[in-house]
Amino acid sequence: MRRSPHAAAAAVLPVLLLLNWAAAVGAATAAETRALLDFKAAVTADPGARLRLHGAGLEGVLSPSLARLPALESVSLFGNRLSGVIPASFAGLAGTLHKLNLSGNALSGEIPAFLGSFPMLRLLDISYNAFSGEIPAALFGACPRLRYVSLAHNALTGRVPPGLGSCVRLAGFDLSYNNLDGELPNKLCAPPEMSYISVRSNSLSGTIDDKLDGCRSLDLFDVGSNNFSGAAPFGLLALVNITYFNVSSNNFAGEIPAIPTCGDRFAYLDASRNRLTGAVPETVANCRNLMVLDLGANGQGLGGVIPATLSQLKNLNFLDLSENALIGVIPPELGDLSSLAHFNVSFNNLTGSIPSSPLLQQFGPTAFVGNPLLCGPPLDHACPGRNARRLGVPVIVAIFIAAAILVGICIISAMNIKAYKRRKEHHDDEEEILVSDSAAIVSPGSTVITGKLVLFRKNNLASRYEDWEAGTKAVLDKNCLVGVGSVGAVYRARFESGVSIAVKKLETLGRITRQEEFEHEMGRLRGLSHPNLVTFHGYYWSPSTQLLLSEFVENGSNLYDHLHGNRRRSVPANSGGNGGGLSWERRFRVAVATSRALAYLHHDCKPQVLHLNIKSRNILLDKEHEAKLSDFGLVKLLPELSNLHTAAGYVAPELASSPSSRYSDKCDVFSFGVVLLEMVTGRKPVSSHGQGTAAVVLRDYVREILEAGTVSGCFDRSLRGFVEAELVQVLKLGLVCTSETPSRRPSMAEVVQFLESIRSSS
Ligand SMILES: *[C@@H]1O[C@H](CO)[C@@H](O)[C@H](O)[C@H]1NC(C)=O
Ligand SMILES: *[C@@H]1O[C@H](CO)[C@@H](O)[C@H](O)[C@H]1NC(C)=O
Ligand SMILES: *[C@@H]1O[C@H](CO)[C@@H](O)[C@H](O)[C@H]1NC(C)=O
Ligand SMILES: *[C@@H]1O[C@H](CO)[C@@H](O)[C@H](O)[C@H]1NC(C)=O
Ligand SMILES: *[C@@H]1O[C@H](CO)[C@@H](O)[C@H](O)[C@H]1NC(C)=O
Ligand SMILES: *[C@@H]1O[C@H](CO)[C@@H](O)[C@H](O)[C@H]1NC(C)=O
Ligand SMILES: [Mg+2]
Repeated sequence: MRRSPHAAAAAVLPVLLLLNWAAAVGAATAAETRALLDFKAAVTADPGARLRLHGAGLEGVLSPSLARLPALESVSLFGNRLSGVIPASFAGLAGTLHKLNLSGNALSGEIPAFLGSFPMLRLLDISYNAFSGEIPAALFGACPRLRYVSLAHNALTGRVPPGLGSCVRLAGFDLSYNNLDGELPNKLCAPPEMSYISVRSNSLSGTIDDKLDGCRSLDLFDVGSNNFSGAAPFGLLALVNITYFNVSSNNFAGEIPAIPTCGDRFAYLDASRNRLTGAVPETVANCRNLMVLDLGANGQGLGGVIPATLSQLKNLNFLDLSENALIGVIPPELGDLSSLAHFNVSFNNLTGSIPSSPLLQQFGPTAFVGNPLLCGPPLDHACPGRNARRLGVPVIVAIFIAAAILVGICIISAMNIKAYKRRKEHHDDEEEILVSDSAAIVSPGSTVITGKLVLFRKNNLASRYEDWEAGTKAVLDKNCLVGVGSVGAVYRARFESGVSIAVKKLETLGRITRQEEFEHEMGRLRGLSHPNLVTFHGYYWSPSTQLLLSEFVENGSNLYDHLHGNRRRSVPANSGGNGGGLSWERRFRVAVATSRALAYLHHDCKPQVLHLNIKSRNILLDKEHEAKLSDFGLVKLLPELSNLHTAAGYVAPELASSPSSRYSDKCDVFSFGVVLLEMVTGRKPVSSHGQGTAAVVLRDYVREILEAGTVSGCFDRSLRGFVEAELVQVLKLGLVCTSETPSRRPSMAEVVQFLESIRSSS
């Protein structure tokens, strides 16, 4: 499933950042820039008397006479070519200076200690110069107003002054890219608003986890490329405003702890190039807006399996787990990470075949090398055959027998037997349940009904109460009636947002008697998600009214109408001029799509979901004629199957003869087989030619014709331009699926495999 879950992230990070996110590494800088800009915006209210000259190519030294300008509050001389030292006379600005920005010049010498005694100074930026020597301790002596200091990109040496933590207003400091060494001072977050800490690329050492007590406001934390040791401060990930956490290229050791809560804005986690051990915690999935996860090159330290929960990180852009000791298979779910632009799991101890998802395949062999037990493309190393799942013996036999009675062609030999890859869809377990216990819904007779509405969180479905009200009105309005299905009338409800949903008003509750039972049945449908299934959005319960809410399929015609509808009135004769408007090409696609949806219900859903009401009327075709199977999982809501005349011809014989016999997935296979026959022959599952004549059951009809040896005699006459062999194969598959004995019928997985092999072998 590809979803587009960017909405949440967009709310958190500026759109610009997302758009600019081309190369992951470059954008990390963008994140930093943003955090920095936020700060600067916070340090607002530039005072009156300013001196602002930048990018003007000023050369020479800072004039000592500047200090004689009266009441100078702000000096911004960045981006020039000033050299020399900060003149001693600048001490004269002490009384008034709020802001000093000398960034991006060629100033040198030591940082004058007197800057520390400026009582008004809030912002000091002398980054990108050539200052050397130690940071004077006095710089952080009395610093009543100091908010932000950047000394980045100089040649400073020595320690980080311990006084830093006593600047009560300090909200950020950037000491990155210097030659500082020793340990960081204790209590870095003593200033309560501390939100920006960068000491990247120095030679700092010692521990850090114990120096961050009381950090609450951190947004950016970057201590990369130093020599810190001990535990990395992963506890920071729980902070509400954290966006960026970089501890890469240090000596951090120990395990990555579980991350029970993670900041909503948190997007960048780089802990690569350390000596971390233990497993990658599954709970990293709680960092819902994560874009970068780099845990690579931890010296073969990280073990365990790659958590499949990573597939929940819909904004993940960069995933690097290389050079560790990870074991197990690469979870195929990772193929769902549609934003991924960098992926690397090379040099681990992973096993099994590489998921076939094009998304993962695109990263090429270097993303996977160095895992001796990993196999399949894009590596040269082919997977051993035993991993491949083949058609089970009973089916092969069944198909063979069917083939033998029919035209004598041996299907097996023509079949391209492929491994069936189970595509396990991942479900968001989260749902939004909106219970409006006293939602008053006024029916035409103005009776007040109270009930409970449950909406599953999906597809940006509107969930406001007003929207729901609109939905209810639609139910009551006959103009919105779009059809009558096996469980009741179907209405289209349009929301203001432009979204439409289908609302089914149940006419019967089948075998269900109590609300709990109803809710339990509905709950089983939550989270089912497949491109060829109509998405189920939720339900409404009140003692007198029960509604099912599901995806509204635009165009919403069903396969039955296409195959058996009034042909004179129908769609212009396109695609090979067939009367039904549905070419063989399309019918075949519908067959494959439907079989995949059923295979998903039968094999990928735990517990298995049975449909038990498969018929061509329940296969909806959208604008592009893509199939969407509807009305699944409603077994308990259906009237007794044997009484269901609408399903006549589709019901497996074991159910018809003894309704008490257990439902099984083979009942679905039977009904699907009937649909296949319908598609090839264009005939209804049961037809009668006028009063008094006996009803013709499609399955028997096809069998007779084939036994008589005139296969093509039963093809839909309106079909043109098809490959006859394909129709024959599908017809035979239809017959095998409709075998009298359930055990003779293939499983849905095998049906998918067979249909796919028909196409690839023709
Ligand atoms: C100082 O000027 C530079 C321009 O070179 C700018 O990027 C930086 O944000 C300024 N510093 C502060 C703290 O405003
Ligand atoms: C988080 O950021 C918001 C604004 O961006 C701010 O209002 C809030 O105080 C911050 N929270 C903390 C704990 O600093
Ligand atoms: C983390 O910092 C290192 C330098 O220490 C840098 O190379 C890397 O790009 C940073 N990671 C992210 C995600 O920004
Ligand atoms: C980093 O620190 C470790 C001790 O934690 C020390 O053995 C190593 O020499 C240091 N490396 C550098 C480059 O300073
Ligand atoms: C890789 O895993 C296999 C078994 O899964 C084990 O025998 C082998 O020792 C592991 N190799 C390394 C380098 O961990
Ligand atoms: C993956 O990482 C390995 C080793 O770190 C490197 O050699 C390779 O080029 C990387 N491949 C990709 C696609 O990033
Ligand atoms: Mg229906």
